[in-house]
Amino acid sequence: MAKGAGYGKTILFGEHFVVYGLPAIAAAIGSTTTAIIRRTQPPGWTLTDNRPAVPGYKKKKLDEQTASINNILRFADIDLSETGIHITLGGKLVCASGIGASAASCTAIARALNEEFRLGWDDNKVNACAYEGEKGYHGTPSGIDNTAATFGGIVWFKRNLEGGEPTIETIKMKEPTEIVIASTGITASTKEVVDDVRRMKEEKGKWFDQIIEDYLDIVNTARQGFEDHDLQLIGLLMNQNHNLLIEIGVSCVELEELVGVSRQAGAWGAKLTGTGRGGNMVALTPGRELQNNIFGAVKQRGFSAWRYTIGI
Ligand code: MEV
Repeated sequence: MAKGAGYGKTILFGEHFVVYGLPAIAAAIGSTTTAIIRRTQPPGWTLTDNRPAVPGYKKKKLDEQTASINNILRFADIDLSETGIHITLGGKLVCASGIGASAASCTAIARALNEEFRLGWDDNKVNACAYEGEKGYHGTPSGIDNTAATFGGIVWFKRNLEGGEPTIETIKMKEPTEIVIASTGITASTKEVVDDVRRMKEEKGKWFDQIIEDYLDIVNTARQGFEDHDLQLIGLLMNQNHNLLIEIGVSCVELEELVGVSRQAGAWGAKLTGTGRGGNMVALTPGRELQNNIFGAVKQRGFSAWRYTIGI
């Protein structure tokens, strides 16, 4: 029997833009999905999914999850034709779109397989395996989610569009800070939303290029903001990043409500995080008191919310 874990994440800058090779910044959150692997007599694999989740999440993702686990096993080159394995997923990370739940589970399974079958993988190989798993959830993942799930901390991530290794750099924060994540309760299909954005990019190339230019300014300034520990600037830039995400059509009424409530209650910045069209919002809320205020404000509107620390 062996156990592995993967972090949940929030994208602070660059969802969707990262797909096209632009840099993005993601933060791991201190909450994980775990995978336990036990060998079984019957061949093949079986799964018990005990992860906490927003209603409908696990059902909606079931087919993709099956494809994902098959991809992981293929990558690991594990022969299950004579004896099998049982995978049990658990941990504290509440599955909702936008929190990197699929990537956290891929990393957890990859780590557990690495242990159980003594594969001798380092973190880069675990990450590569989790990336194959992510492909089961949507055909063309950028790799940012599995990278944050595997390495933790705050990562600067840039996909290599030629298919080579991505750029992965750790950004150090002077000290950790508080965030609030809130869920719309809507589970969006990453594949569908990414495909819609791609169609829009193809149809309105010039307009999209301008958005990309604006985004590049935002993310480069944000990196400097992290280096200077200028949280006010980072919050402002998160708001600007959110405006671009509205423009490319991935926000929705519920996300706008969450962002609005959080900003009104004093968040330093608030934006959708992850796929959008549902999923989650992240608000930057330095200090426990502010974090509790924002948490309370979104809960009062009937949304599920969580308090996390980033930069750990
Ligand atoms: C999903 O968490 C983030 C997206 O940018 C897709 C990806 O990076 O693969 C929407």
